[in-house]
Order: sequence, then C-alpha cells, then structure tokens
Amino acid sequence: MKNNNLEVLIKFNNLTKKFGTLYAVRNVSLEIKRGEIVGFLGPNGAGKTTTMKMMANLLKPNEGEVLIRANGEFQKLTNKNKDYLLDNMGFLIEIPAFYERVTPKEILGYFAKLKGYPRKSIDRRIDTVLNMMEMLEWKNKYIGTFSKGMKQKIGIMSAIIHDPDIIVLDEPQTGLDPAARKEVRDFILKLKKQGKTVFLSSHLLYEISEVADRIAIINKGKLIAFDTLENLERKVRKSVINFELLKPPEENVEVLIDKLRSLIGPLTGISERESWIKYDDNSKIFQVLFDGNPENQALILKKLLNDGQDILEYSVPKAGLLEILFMELTKSDERKGGGIDI
Ligand SMILES: Nc1ncnc2c1ncn2[C@@H]1O[C@H](COP(=O)(O)OP(=O)(O)OP(=O)(O)O)[C@@H](O)[C@H]1O
Ligand SMILES: [Mg+2]
Repeated sequence: MKNNNLEVLIKFNNLTKKFGTLYAVRNVSLEIKRGEIVGFLGPNGAGKTTTMKMMANLLKPNEGEVLIRANGEFQKLTNKNKDYLLDNMGFLIEIPAFYERVTPKEILGYFAKLKGYPRKSIDRRIDTVLNMMEMLEWKNKYIGTFSKGMKQKIGIMSAIIHDPDIIVLDEPQTGLDPAARKEVRDFILKLKKQGKTVFLSSHLLYEISEVADRIAIINKGKLIAFDTLENLERKVRKSVINFELLKPPEENVEVLIDKLRSLIGPLTGISERESWIKYDDNSKIFQVLFDGNPENQALILKKLLNDGQDILEYSVPKAGLLEILFMELTKSDERKGGGIDI
C-alpha cells in the first residue's frame, strides 16, 4: 500500500499563460498531494488567479499542462475530459455575485444540484456546510441583508457544497476583517481534518503560514519557491524578531534604529551589509533580521533589556520568515510596492 499522504493528485507541468506579450504564468511546475494544504502566495498580478483558472479549465495554457489523477492515473486536462476530471473538485475563483432576494438554502441547493449531489441528501448537506461556518441561522434569510464577509463565506460554501475532495480557493480571505479571516482559516483547517486537499491562494502571509503544509511563492508569473515553511526557513537561514516597546518612539526613530543597530547588530549572525532593523509606525513593531538561531534570539533580548529598553512583546512570528523570503527572492523594484501583507 502506498502512503496516501504522499500520493500526488494534481501536477502542473511547465504551465504557461501569455496575454499578448505578457507572461502571466511562466513555466510553473508543482504538484499537490492528497490531504495537504498548499498555500499559493504572491503579490497582486503575480499570476495566482490565472494559474487557478487554468486548473479549472477556464483558461487554456499556451504551453504546459495540468495533470489530474483519476482512477489511479494522470490525465491531461482538456475540454473533452474536464467534466469528468473536475468532478471531484470545488473552485472559488471569483466571488460570485448573488442576487439579493435569494437565501443560502436556495443558492447552496442550486449548486448542489448543478454538481450532481444526491438530491435526497442535499438538505442535510446544506445544514452541515452552514454549520461549519456557523451560519446555520442564516439559512433562510435573503443574501441582500448579508455583510460582505457573509456573502464571501456563502461563496466558499458553494465551492464545497458537493463535498469534493480537492478544493481550490482564490483569495478567500481578501477583504475580510480579522475575525472573519480567522473563521475562514478555521474552516480551511476543518476541511483538512476531513482529509480534503486544499489549494489556497493569498497575498496574506500570516493566513498562509497558519494553515499551509507547503507554500508555493509566485512572483511575476514565476514560481520562486515551493516547500514547507520549515524547509524554506532552513534554506534561507534567516528569520525575524518582532518586538514592541512599552513607549513607542514618537520621533527620532532613525536615531533609535541606529543605536539599536550598533547594540544588537553584532548578535544577529547577519553580516552588516545584509542586516536591517525596521520600525512600522502603524503597528509600533520593530523588526530585526537575524539568523534564526535561538541563542542569538535570547542574547538580543538580554542586550535590549540590559540597555534599559522596556520590551512589551518579543517574538519570532512564522509569517516574518515568509516576508524575508519574499524579499530575498524578488529583490527588485517592488520592495516599495508592498503587495504582501503580514
Ligand atoms: N484576461 C486578461 N487579459 C490580459 N491580461 C490579464 C488577464 N488576466 C490577467 N492578466 C494579467 O496577468 C497577470 C497575472 O494576473 P492574475 O490575475 O493571475 O494575478 P493574481 O496573482 O491573481 O493577482 P491578484 O492578487 O491581484 O488577484 C497580471 O499582470 C494581469 O494584469
Ligand atoms: Mg487574483
């Protein structure tokens, strides 16, 4: 018996899509295994939606192919076999625009029938799915009265109403507030617990780092990394410390940063040329690039405390690594563009 966890379900082979002369997606190859959550991370315009549309047969690649496992063998996705190959998949690629005077029950029932879910079981399935998002009480209310986040959740539910094994979600959390983002995150983790395979795009580093088993990073159409967060971390041998002071600096931040650089710079394990300390005025958080070594992490804290800094918070967030990685891999003009959010 093969280990099911290692079974590849979907492969992209040199997937390429051009719009005119622009390569929206260029030679992207990756595979998705049964039961894993693959996070697809990239800034605006990186090629995430285009890739997912090719996966859903909504766009045809110029070169390369999407291979999907069916009955034990890989088949190239084409117009001819798309219904059969995509039968076990659920897509949320664009948030559907719903009519105002319909209810979740009607919408979900419609999609369930469309996808051929057994009619007798549809009612129960609608309740199950609404329950997973804690929206059962809204079952018979008009969508017109729903918040944006609630509509988005109904969109996500409509992608999985037929209980597919493979679920593709394009930016399901974009535009949602932190509480709704968490609900969607928990929902994705519930899908994983049920053994589902999830391919999830986002430009939200934190959301991806919290749920994904493996992370594919795309930039300007090219796949620039694809691995587990741990392996990516090992490869770059860099990480970030976040810390917050009791009294945020009101002015002279530059002076403080210079002082901190000479104080803790030598403890970071990073060469002077590459090292940096940043301060974000909105979150009031300092970030220090270091080599990920826990001993250095402890030494830096000790040094800051010895210097009389009142440290309120001190941590190494998982998403910090992704941010660095992204910067390392894309070192170029878009640094200022800041398409990626923590
Ligand atoms: N139908 C189209 N015609 C022309 N160019 C397109 C088309 N669709 C996408 N593009 C271009 O292809 C590139 C990739 O777009 P895509 O929508 O795949 O990016 P994305 O990663 O999903 O971005 P976002 O985070 O903004 O959703 C962009 O430069 C975009 O302008
Ligand atoms: Mg997109």
